[in-house]
Amino acid sequence: MISSNPIGVFDSGIGGISIWKELINHLPNENTIYLADSKNAPYGDRSKQEIIDLCVKNTELLLKKNCKIIVVACNTATTNAIDFLRATYKVPFIGIEPAIKPAALQTKSNAIGILATKGTLTSELFHSTSKKFTAGITVIEKVGEGLVPLIESDKIESIEMEQLLKKLLHPMLEKKIDYLVLGCSHYPFLIPQIKKIVGEGIKIIDSGEAVAKQTKAILLKNNLLNTCTTTSAHYLYSNANITTLTHLVKNISKSAKIAYLDF
Ligand code: SIN
Repeated sequence: MISSNPIGVFDSGIGGISIWKELINHLPNENTIYLADSKNAPYGDRSKQEIIDLCVKNTELLLKKNCKIIVVACNTATTNAIDFLRATYKVPFIGIEPAIKPAALQTKSNAIGILATKGTLTSELFHSTSKKFTAGITVIEKVGEGLVPLIESDKIESIEMEQLLKKLLHPMLEKKIDYLVLGCSHYPFLIPQIKKIVGEGIKIIDSGEAVAKQTKAILLKNNLLNTCTTTSAHYLYSNANITTLTHLVKNISKSAKIAYLDF
């Protein structure tokens, strides 16, 4: 494997762009390839085996494109499939898990909220992490049912989104949470809408920066950090309509190339 090979990133759709953005900020010399598996979104309502099969399909494609490391930029995919991927392929995998630990360590009200998909909240990995860090803390878990399809269909600023978020967040406000963990890579795109509902007093935590730092550390450890300073290349592929992806990506990088790919 050579260090100029790209970092591969995949998600069930456009949500992982919140992670990709942190990756290109923290690792400006790196080339990247992003797969948005929007055709199969949301992963959160699928069985563990279906999620594993989709992750294998995405991984095989990224390996064909010579990726040197793979970032699973999807909480549902990480919590259900990363053990399988690590046991099956030689390439290093970076996963994304809900940031329960920092919220549990810093809460003053002793109540935290977690918004994630059903697939994440019912996974063994989520349960063991939650059990480890939240003894004595009230944890209000909510399945963000319906959020991913609205984000994928460019309805972030819609009335429907506002009403759904209010329904999900009000029970957390009643329990006086002071930290809200976003346990799905799609949800950081909702931060402005969430803030309008919960106010500035509640801290919102997502995992993007932590994932970028961990990716850098693993590349360093494996001698795979790209030291070449020529302009980096970014290719992003979606197997559905590319309008929303294009809209999001062009606000982050003008040079990134976006295309439809049947995968
Ligand atoms: C989903 O596809 O259901 C959401 C992705 C995630 O869990 O990050």
